[in-house]
Amino acid sequence: MNTARLLLDPRRRVAPVPRRLFGSFVEHLGRCVYGGIYEPDHPTADADGFRGDVLALVRELGITTVRYPGGNFVSSYRWEDGVGPVDKRPARLDLAWHSLETNAFGLDEFMRWVGKAGVDPIMAVNLGTRGTAEAVDLLEYANHRGGSHLADKRRDNGAVDPYGIRLWCLGNEMDGPWQVGQRSATEYGRLAAQTAKAMRRFDSDLELVACGSSYLGMPTFGSWERDVLTEAYDDVDLISLHAYYQPVDDDLPSFLASAEDMDTYIDAVTAIADSVGAIRRSTRKIMIAFDEWNVWYQSAAPSTPPSGEDWPVAPPLLEDHYSVADAVVVGGLLISLLRHSDRVTAACQAQLVNVIAPIMTEPGGSAWRQTIFHPFARTARHARGAVLDVLRDSSTTTTDRYGVVDAVDAVSTWDDSTGEMTVFLVNRVLDTPAEVTVDVAGAQVGGIIECVTVGGADLDARNTADGPDHAEPRTNDTARGSGASVQLTLPQASWTMLRLRATDVTP
Ligand code: AHR
Repeated sequence: MNTARLLLDPRRRVAPVPRRLFGSFVEHLGRCVYGGIYEPDHPTADADGFRGDVLALVRELGITTVRYPGGNFVSSYRWEDGVGPVDKRPARLDLAWHSLETNAFGLDEFMRWVGKAGVDPIMAVNLGTRGTAEAVDLLEYANHRGGSHLADKRRDNGAVDPYGIRLWCLGNEMDGPWQVGQRSATEYGRLAAQTAKAMRRFDSDLELVACGSSYLGMPTFGSWERDVLTEAYDDVDLISLHAYYQPVDDDLPSFLASAEDMDTYIDAVTAIADSVGAIRRSTRKIMIAFDEWNVWYQSAAPSTPPSGEDWPVAPPLLEDHYSVADAVVVGGLLISLLRHSDRVTAACQAQLVNVIAPIMTEPGGSAWRQTIFHPFARTARHARGAVLDVLRDSSTTTTDRYGVVDAVDAVSTWDDSTGEMTVFLVNRVLDTPAEVTVDVAGAQVGGIIECVTVGGADLDARNTADGPDHAEPRTNDTARGSGASVQLTLPQASWTMLRLRATDVTP
């Protein structure tokens, strides 16, 4: 049996829980839009063609924001193709995913959908094949009240009120050789700065995200962030990070510890951004938008786009079917994001429906929750108030990829308004349970509200349209204690959420 001791204290706060950590991502890719959120012929579709069964699951998932329209797709997208009368919209080749884009769904449909889903939009502009002019046009169409050409077009298209989109991504993965319009860091940094300056002439309060590296292993990682921020430090508010995880060579122990990589990545980008700021003697801090993260089996067949003469509409692409082990990893990645909430102020799980997604659909048929749905939904619902700085003393385990790591990882939140303290934990060891003691200082635990666990067994189980909900959290009845201490057991390879009723007794 491994052991871990955690110390929580409501006086040791990292930051308020950024509700934007629980964002998602909808790209024109595969069946995310078409056959995912939008399927006019579906029995549950509403008058706008939005699937009602998907909307219900999206609300249950508890996401707060959605990034749109890409991803790689945005780098050759003309946003104007997707507005105005649908029968006049052109079909175009989508060079990112070798598909045919019908443009039946565009900005106005997306904004209607986010309204129904009750989430905030995050809009990406094309800085691959396009530039500052088109970004500013899109901003005028979306956010200007009226009286100008593009704002009046929006009004003519049925949206009288401006959309008021606050958070904008200046391109996508511009360091990647796979990106249409890849640029050097300095080239991109200048374009991002120029575009940001132009957008701020319209509205100085926009929040703008510059592209960071596409992942920590990029050969240009580090110099990319430094050079982009050297050009754009004063003009942007956030820098993006993207990371996808999968077991390499069936190495499950390292896969379960994927949050180690996320921690390292966030800490490294924070250090680089702060060093650029220090050299400039700047008092501003650049925040982090982890605006693509998830488990993704990138080398598996569903991730291979069509080729040659084949340009299908909404082909099934990147349709990973997630296991219970994947759900445990997703729970662990959320712990890493929360732990860094003083710097990571926005994040988007990629993506929302069908494409590496917590929600799957059948054309004309049912929609269901993948295993990874459950830790996300529970964390989004119960991580409230402030993130606490958890002091951790844990047994260790050795992984091939990350060396010696703590067996148990954890983060906690404390909500003054409800008196609820929630601890999210992962046991990252494949074959050994862990006894955990949670010591609470500065608060008295009145009781355990709920303790639920995902994993421990059937790590390879997956959900299907008709199959059971394998990662539906089940009660963990080992949790005991009150006052200053609670004990619980974490099964091997598992994610757990412990909710405590606690009273603040700080002087
Ligand atoms: O989310 C799938 C793809 O992953 C996105 O289009 C791209 O930004 C990233 O490489």
